[in-house]
Amino acid sequence: MSQVHISHHPLVQHKLALLRDERTDPKKFRELVREISTMLVYEATTDLVTESATVPTPLGRSAAQRLADRIGLVPVLRAGLGMVEGVWQMLPGAEVWHIGLARDERTLQPVAYYSRLPIRPTVDVCLVLDPMLATGGSATAAVDTLKKWGAERIKFIGIVAARPGVERFTAAHPDVPLHLAAVDEQLNEAGLIVPGLGDAGDRMFGTG
Ligand code: PRP
Repeated sequence: MSQVHISHHPLVQHKLALLRDERTDPKKFRELVREISTMLVYEATTDLVTESATVPTPLGRSAAQRLADRIGLVPVLRAGLGMVEGVWQMLPGAEVWHIGLARDERTLQPVAYYSRLPIRPTVDVCLVLDPMLATGGSATAAVDTLKKWGAERIKFIGIVAARPGVERFTAAHPDVPLHLAAVDEQLNEAGLIVPGLGDAGDRMFGTG
């Protein structure tokens, strides 16, 4: 599982504890998703390409590095939407392309219902955003879509994953790193991560 990166940062883990807590209301839940996303993207972007530049300081000129990679954020609707603002804190110039996938509650298979991608990739790196990776079906399908579209450098940023889903995803896409706050051991018969945090979309949007 060398492509699986779990953040052990104390602030991530502290906020994850609050996020898991069933007493956390939707407003706080959204705030925590945003904050955790900001920290995870910081850790997930250490290999972005920069280019040399020179900037004027009040006292002279300084050599500097500027981000050269163009970044696209691909939130998986619905719950991935909650991560966009947090990632934008770090990457305000990132484009956002939406993919809609809903998991069929009976078959647990992802059903695609929306895709808003340009004809060909306009970015160098795609960051797929979805707080939950359960069976791994949705994350795998989202990356399948991006690869068919022509994306070459893809990373997945999630918050809580289940081990079976991580194994399925890394088998399908061994080139795509996963950046997560936790990997839980189990899925229940309804395909929910145990202990997990419940349904992130429902907790975020106050539904369910
Ligand atoms: C949840 C979650 C992922 C998916 C994970 O979304 O946000 O997209 O399920 O499950 P999987 O790994 O088994 O595919 P859901 O389909 O419930 O839609 P929602 O975000 O609209 O609630």
